[in-house]
Amino acid sequence: MTQVGIRTQNRWLLFQLGSRDDCCPQNIKAEQLAIWGREEKAELASFMKKDLRIAIAKRAVIVLVGHPGRQSRGTMNALAATNRNFKLASRLLGLDSKLERNDGTLQSYVGFRVQHDNARGPMKGGIRYHPEVDPDEVNALAQLMTWKTAVANIPYGGAKGGIGCNPSELSISELERLTRVFTQKIHDLIGTHTDVPAPDMGTGPQTMAWILDEYSKFHGYSPAVVTGKPIDLGGSLGRDAATGRGVLFATEALLNEHGKSVSGQRFVIQGFGNVGSWAAQLISEKGGKVVAVSDITGAIKNSKGLDIPSLLQHSKEHRGVKGFHGGDPIDPKSILVEDCDVLVPAALGGVINRENANEIKAKFIVEAANHPTDPEADEILKKKGVVILPDIYANSGGVTVSYFEWVQNIQGFMWDEEKVNNELRTYMTKGFKDVKEMCKTHECDLRMGAFTLAVNRVARATVLRGWEA
Ligand SMILES: NC(=O)c1ccc[n+]([C@@H]2O[C@H](COP(=O)([O-])OP(=O)(O)OC[C@H]3O[C@@H](n4cnc5c(N)ncnc54)[C@H](O)[C@@H]3O)[C@@H](O)[C@H]2O)c1
Repeated sequence: MTQVGIRTQNRWLLFQLGSRDDCCPQNIKAEQLAIWGREEKAELASFMKKDLRIAIAKRAVIVLVGHPGRQSRGTMNALAATNRNFKLASRLLGLDSKLERNDGTLQSYVGFRVQHDNARGPMKGGIRYHPEVDPDEVNALAQLMTWKTAVANIPYGGAKGGIGCNPSELSISELERLTRVFTQKIHDLIGTHTDVPAPDMGTGPQTMAWILDEYSKFHGYSPAVVTGKPIDLGGSLGRDAATGRGVLFATEALLNEHGKSVSGQRFVIQGFGNVGSWAAQLISEKGGKVVAVSDITGAIKNSKGLDIPSLLQHSKEHRGVKGFHGGDPIDPKSILVEDCDVLVPAALGGVINRENANEIKAKFIVEAANHPTDPEADEILKKKGVVILPDIYANSGGVTVSYFEWVQNIQGFMWDEEKVNNELRTYMTKGFKDVKEMCKTHECDLRMGAFTLAVNRVARATVLRGWEA
């Protein structure tokens, strides 16, 4: 018998399955599950009306908890405790911020801050400015941060926030005023030791500088209240490259495990923004051959390997990879199915799906973007023997260096870039070892191993803090 925890909308449901094979999402049937408690049964009944995979696509998470007999009873108590904690601690704050536009009109914007879990430390997560910011999405992303910080083993929980606005339609002074009004609404909810925001889509170091300044009016100068700040205001050296560098370290750990190294492997990278371009640069410096790259403007291929420094220069000058002469243009839609050893999706979510999963030729996929692989594609790729390094581990380099920034601000001492990069390597390498350990214990793939590691860490912290009652 295997015990499984399924994370639905707001809580964990605990199940026992007949055998380990049943843990494949499509094999789980309602009648196979021994359900604990009437409440869970009712919730599961409505949940299972839909295909479980649809539920997973909606960001429910399935985690192997353990095999009774091999695992102590304490683990299940811990998971149950975490479940209770989710019910209590999940907070969704809808905030209405009014802004006087430059033309004198008054406009209302809705902002959110979802605080998901703080068992392991202050909650951590980005603030995004986007017209389609909605509570469900922000809630899912806040959860993701809880698992990501737990896998990275940094002392944080998870949160996320945003304002429903189109930053490209606002002037700099309007953006500043909106950020300051939003900060006035949330200054009592965020804090160095409670909830530490960071940049996300549509926000950046300048946004963090405004939040820091506004927050400091209420609470005194507090650089550690946000991360991703400009270097001059306490930002960390190495933060800009951190997610891409983390992708390199994660890839090295994965390939080493398979008796390979980055050098000589052929890489395809989708996305040439912050994460994709740093990953491409660092991979090529290590001798990896980046044979194709795409971004929103187009895609280019050179089977001998693209000259990445020249491509970076071109991309800076022409705001995209399109028109680069060191390769042949290809259809951007075909980028994910190009022949290569390692595929690095570093752009959007949901790009690897049942339409293209069968055509993928890579042996390894390193998920630099959030949620690039949908659950159906996951199953198809697993059958094909493709090894996937999951996002909650592979792109955790960014939040790890955000943690270093917070530590430096609290210490009042700035690290040099070499120290930041060395520490990042240590965390990423240890993270891979911990995930592999879970995979070995539970005989599961890397995604399941990473989620299991995360849930167990959050659960243990919950119990240790005495929150299980
Ligand atoms: N920046 C971070 O620290 C960080 C940390 C963790 C996860 N991520 C995730 O990594 C991904 C990339 O983030 P980023 O910071 O590099 O963003 P970015 O905005 O800097 O770059 C995104 C890139 O994707 C490209 N792109 C957009 N639509 C595309 C399409 N249809 N086809 C091909 N390329 C397309 C853009 O042209 C751009 O090159 C996102 O999923 C993000 O959530 C980023």
